Amino acid sequence: MCGIVGYVGPKPALEVVVEGLARLEYRGYDSAGVAILSDGKLQTEKRAGKLANLRAALEQNPRSADGIGIGHTRWATHGAPTDHNAHPHVDNTNRVAVIHNGIIENFAQLRVELEERGCKFRSETDTEVVAHLLSEELKERGDKDLGAAMRSVCRRLEGAFTLVAICEDIPDLVVAARRNSPLVVGRGKGENFLASDVAAFIAHTRDAVELGQDQVVELRPDSVTITDYDGAPAPVREYYVDWDASAAEKGGYEYFMLKEIVEQPRAVADTLLGRVAVDGTLTLDEMRLAPQELRQISKIVIIACGTSYHAGLIAKYAIEHWCRIPCEVEVASEFRYRDPILDRQTLVIAISQSGESMDTLMATRYAREQQSRVLAICNVNGSTIPRESDGVLYTHAGPEVGVAATKTFLTQLVACYLVGLYLAQVRGLKFGDEINTIIGQLARMPEQVEKVLSTVEPVRELARSLADAKTVLFLGRHVGYPVAMEGALKLKELAYMHAEAFAAGELKHGPIALIEDGLPVVVVVPSREGRSVLHDKIVSNIQEIRARGARTIVIAEEGDESVRPYSDTLIEIPAVPTLLQPIVATVPLQVFACELALAKGNDVDQPRNLAKSVTVE
Ligand code: F6R
Repeated sequence: MCGIVGYVGPKPALEVVVEGLARLEYRGYDSAGVAILSDGKLQTEKRAGKLANLRAALEQNPRSADGIGIGHTRWATHGAPTDHNAHPHVDNTNRVAVIHNGIIENFAQLRVELEERGCKFRSETDTEVVAHLLSEELKERGDKDLGAAMRSVCRRLEGAFTLVAICEDIPDLVVAARRNSPLVVGRGKGENFLASDVAAFIAHTRDAVELGQDQVVELRPDSVTITDYDGAPAPVREYYVDWDASAAEKGGYEYFMLKEIVEQPRAVADTLLGRVAVDGTLTLDEMRLAPQELRQISKIVIIACGTSYHAGLIAKYAIEHWCRIPCEVEVASEFRYRDPILDRQTLVIAISQSGESMDTLMATRYAREQQSRVLAICNVNGSTIPRESDGVLYTHAGPEVGVAATKTFLTQLVACYLVGLYLAQVRGLKFGDEINTIIGQLARMPEQVEKVLSTVEPVRELARSLADAKTVLFLGRHVGYPVAMEGALKLKELAYMHAEAFAAGELKHGPIALIEDGLPVVVVVPSREGRSVLHDKIVSNIQEIRARGARTIVIAEEGDESVRPYSDTLIEIPAVPTLLQPIVATVPLQVFACELALAKGNDVDQPRNLAKSVTVE
């Protein structure tokens, strides 16, 4: 989730662009850069690290501030966060500069083609292919129609992207395109702006135009022309932004957490992007662990903390089922103190959103000392845990600002499923079509999460009605058990109330004594297909607790009439394959905890006593 800014108009472009980037700071930074076209000369400056590094470089090496400009803050996906991977990227003639948000899925193939034609690449990014393609296209066309060149290039790209380009030969024109990635235009008087969100230009104008899917915009000081990829005029949504600057950063939501919950379909889709090769096989580019090594693995140990630990618990079910490799899951802070049995045939999977949790880092180092191979699943490119691991699989959730993990959890689940399927593929345990069927099911998840999000209003009402509850219990079976644990953790950290999760089968061994009149108990019901035994058992558990006075809040798949008679509140989720159910079942629990905390007047972005990244043991 990068930040993008573009400006055409009479103001000093460099200032407007850098100021816009500063307003997008919440989107996260690992590098930043600008390109300014002034007096017919294209100049770029880019630096790894925070915006302050770019500002310092600009001060040391002053650039013309006038003309038109584009700027970018990077959240690395392809290529480490370094100066040369920072955007903008330029073509080999240094005339075309491009910035990009998203992932170009077919970049590897395009890069090979371009290299065969003599292009010299200066970065490891997927973005650079676009600079070269635009340059070639302009040369072939023999005109200065950057808009037409962009339309033609976009037709060749697969994936999700917002692209912005300027060309030295064409003053006064910024061209941008979007597919599955945000882009808004700000209309001013004699000036126009574009950005990944309105926060970047709200100080200048509140008249905005939201681009639709597969559209290209040509921005000049006194005109905004929007077409589809074939050049036909395109319908757009114009609106007036009445948010203040801080609400704008949050996309109009009061809290980042609310925005991040809503971003989950996109985050899941982005994490799945670019994982299937042209021949239909699953490819995990950044994995760095050779198939031969993966074939020799005899045991998997997953280490993680908090929410990431819950993702690991769910991964165990999928990995053991698909790969038949024994899989242990351990809280990272306990791991190295119990003298775990590790060897060269053990694959350790370290799951960490931030890549900086000290407990997980120490456990990673310990595992490597014991000669085990470590694969990191991480959301922050270039952070310490993936740097110190043998391989990595990045989730593409974009920066998560709210302390409570939401979108990163769903994307960790997707990454874990991908690892499980990849292991099954390299070990020859599943046929290609079986793997593709599951990938197809995963590909439908963004839509299913969207569906859940569109039906959560009753969950909010329920949460508000429980603001005075002293305790909430959560029950689940199979993959629903870690989901219940995640629901309880969210409630503890956000609403500061007692919440506890149990495996529903354990109830009768003690916890059932806690049930009293009116006690809210959330039950995650497994799907009826595939694991019908579990389903029937949990229906009995619901009956047991209801008979003892519990207020039952039941999360079950739509159409599951068997639970209705025993549910005080029934929350329906789409029917999906058993192992994938956590992706949809977690969402109402996030909404529940968030809304209950808000009803109590808590700050859900910065819950008390907690930090986003825990860098102490
Ligand atoms: C809970 C939460 C924490 C983190 C935990 C691990 O919402 O966010 O429990 O999951 O601190 O953090 P990472 O994944 O960054 O290692």
